[in-house]
Amino acid sequence: SRRINLAVIPGDGIGQEVVTQGLKVLRAALPQDVKLETQEYDFGAKRYHATGETLTDTDVEQLKGHDAILLGAIGDPSVPSGVLERGFLLKLRFLFDHHVNLRPSKLLPGVATPLAGQPEIDFVVVREGTEGPYTGNGGTIRKGTPHEVATEVSVNTAFGVERVVRDAFARAQARPRKKLTLVHKNNVLAFAGHLWTNVFNEVAKEFPEVTTDYIHVDAATIYLVTDPGRFDVIVTDNLFGDIITDLAAAVSGGIGVAASGNINPSGEFPSMFEPVHGSAPDIAGQGKADPTATVLSVALLLRHLGYEAEAARIEEAVAADLGERGTAPRTTEEIGDALAVRVAG
Ligand code: IPM
Ligand code: MN
Repeated sequence: SRRINLAVIPGDGIGQEVVTQGLKVLRAALPQDVKLETQEYDFGAKRYHATGETLTDTDVEQLKGHDAILLGAIGDPSVPSGVLERGFLLKLRFLFDHHVNLRPSKLLPGVATPLAGQPEIDFVVVREGTEGPYTGNGGTIRKGTPHEVATEVSVNTAFGVERVVRDAFARAQARPRKKLTLVHKNNVLAFAGHLWTNVFNEVAKEFPEVTTDYIHVDAATIYLVTDPGRFDVIVTDNLFGDIITDLAAAVSGGIGVAASGNINPSGEFPSMFEPVHGSAPDIAGQGKADPTATVLSVALLLRHLGYEAEAARIEEAVAADLGERGTAPRTTEEIGDALAVRVAG
């Protein structure tokens, strides 16, 4: 019999609420013969206040034993900005070498978008997850004085760029439109821009069927609003990817439905799946959060573990639910129940 040994990190704010629904839908989707084992980890503000600690070596060793990680959200206003994010979330992405940060955007029928004319939106952003300005390389001198100087170094390695670009080409190759767009800012960021463009053009030679395109990140924000249909797969660095995927979510149904996977393609370490949204402390504990993004992240998790049919079932259930959702407000639990019923259906 098959078995999934899942690490569950509810985290802060609405994290617990949405993860509960995500697990409910996961259980509903799994065939009888698959045994789901879950172990919860108390990462986030609570642990930080209780022990002063963020991710420990023991956590890391334990987490390595899981097949995958489901995460709700990390970040809380009671802790200075960035401490929990860097101490838990980014540390996990870096230690487990989650270099492919996969963020699909699909505007489903019946779903509201701020864009005019209900455009076709169906693209995937492959955001690099372990380099760029996220590595914490930088410094400050004359801190707190009017002459303070702060630098934030963007780290881009040929190894890191090539592996994520190759992954994005392979994903583009597997999709009907077979189109890959590099998003960067090579007119200003001369060094990193050169490396990305160069590697992109080299790897492109291995994928002659894939149509390639390059757009500066600022222009990409225009196209995401005026012509999102032009995108199929986008590959970009960690920070640009962070920014454009929030915009991508906003135009394709909102942050309540945006899913992501932090993927270690080699399988050396467990991949981690989480909604793109944050902990939303303003609505935490009120049953107002939309668990759909977490449920769709569960679908990505299942697909990653080889459960393609079950992943597709969840995505179909979400599409059907969104199509019939209407405007009557539902609680987090009501949405989770509705999705679980459809999936089990
Ligand atoms: C995201 C988030 C994180 C990021 C934060 C919480 C560190 O915004 O997953 O997009 O910047 O990657
Ligand atoms: Mn973000």
